[in-house]
Amino acid sequence: MLLLLRRVATLRGARGLAGAPARRLSGAARRHEKKGLGEESTLRPLYMDVQATTPLDPRVLDSMLPYLMHYYGNPHSRTHAYGWESESAMERARQQVASLIGADPREIIFTSGATESNNLAIKGVARFYKSRKKHIITTQTEHKCVLDSCRYLEAEGFRVTYLPVKRNGLIDLKELEDALQPDTSLVSIMTVNNEIGVKQPISDIGQICSSRKVFFHTDAAQAVGKIPMDVNDMKIDLMSISGHKIYGPKGVGAIYIRRRPRVRLEPLQSGGGQERGMRSGTVPTPLAVGLGAACEVSQQEMEYDYKRISVLADRLITKIMTEIPDVVMNGDPEHHYPGCINLSFAYVEGESLLMALKDVALSSGSACTSASLEPSYVLRAIGTDEDLAHSSIRFGIGRFTTEEEVDYTVQKCIQHVKRLREMRFEPPGQQNPPLTLATTSSQVTGSTYGTIIENTPWNPGGRVLIRYCLLPRQLLNYLALQRGYMLRSVRRHPPR
Ligand SMILES: Cc1ncc(COP(=O)(O)O)c(C=O)c1O
Repeated sequence: MLLLLRRVATLRGARGLAGAPARRLSGAARRHEKKGLGEESTLRPLYMDVQATTPLDPRVLDSMLPYLMHYYGNPHSRTHAYGWESESAMERARQQVASLIGADPREIIFTSGATESNNLAIKGVARFYKSRKKHIITTQTEHKCVLDSCRYLEAEGFRVTYLPVKRNGLIDLKELEDALQPDTSLVSIMTVNNEIGVKQPISDIGQICSSRKVFFHTDAAQAVGKIPMDVNDMKIDLMSISGHKIYGPKGVGAIYIRRRPRVRLEPLQSGGGQERGMRSGTVPTPLAVGLGAACEVSQQEMEYDYKRISVLADRLITKIMTEIPDVVMNGDPEHHYPGCINLSFAYVEGESLLMALKDVALSSGSACTSASLEPSYVLRAIGTDEDLAHSSIRFGIGRFTTEEEVDYTVQKCIQHVKRLREMRFEPPGQQNPPLTLATTSSQVTGSTYGTIIENTPWNPGGRVLIRYCLLPRQLLNYLALQRGYMLRSVRRHPPR
């Protein structure tokens, strides 16, 4: 605890809320950090996956600590000081969240994160207006929790239009206008895409929706705190926010729900009627305080962070593109949040590259969950061809990413892409014969099995190295690489 506090104090001292940036621990230094009492911690990879989650900002932790220990009252207790002090912290946090997006604090409802906020916005609005309106519009590149909420509503009898996107990842506004129907209750379109960083024209969408009197919800989990968002300027009626994407704690988020004109929704949870009846359950004060602090820090530092992240992103893209041929950047380069860079490295399996880059924490754009063998539906929606979709990597640059970390990642990336490409082009039958990964899904459990077969193409007589193992693709790739093989192609087994 003492060590933790000392570290927080050091970082805080170096960068006050409004002060100059701290000299952050260099990448190398961070990877060699001591665990305590002279014990060397295991080396941890550099962190370049900020779209998955961001580290907690020490200033946020600072604001939360008293509410984890000292001020433990239930913020909904009305009869004593313990409740009042927690309530006042919760209300201050609500104000901080509202201020970041130009809202009234009464329009902010605390939730457990953007997944819950998206569920509440989509299911809640659709169900409330269902007697008159049964149609919803979204896009094919939304986060899974939005798409799954829509699928759920389809099963309840709603109609959903999943708008396609153009090759650059942007929606066509004319298509949106054409898709609106007299009984459309809601349009749900994300602000910044979590895989390719594409930024949709939110103000234009808001304008269209408001002129047609349709509610507009945006999943802004990857946008709030990173780019300016104003619910009134952008004519947004509902907005989802996540704490852990903005250097706040996990397990907390918020939903903005417009009061004028009023948006009504059916709550998902039954209970004590907290949060204006829209989200029953005790608000976790420390988490709400953390979310509020994260919003305040982001509001103060957004401009600075954006500029810095843009410079680092440019550095990464330029270096990779000049050193490695046949690299494609996925998503529109202009309408784009710079901290989310999705690159396809032709002739290289994204998963093999991830395995090779094991000292950098990155995410593959090719599989949205580790057990999935399908290429990402986002890349498919923008028309990326199957091979390129399987060769994509997402580089996430955030507030705490250093130039040194970017350079290290670039250098390793160049080295391994070149090596993997050389391996790929080795003639078959030599030291590294190509392999086929044949996959099948169990009809019963839905699990994916893989078999690694020597010598492509698919050949029933080929030597089987690993048969029907219940493993995610990465592990199969790893096993193949470990044996000095290169996975060349992926085929479907006959159904099992
Ligand atoms: C665009 C987007 N929406 C929603 C979510 C879900 O957020 P949470 O983890 O807060 O539920 C994420 C997180 O990956 C996201 O990137």
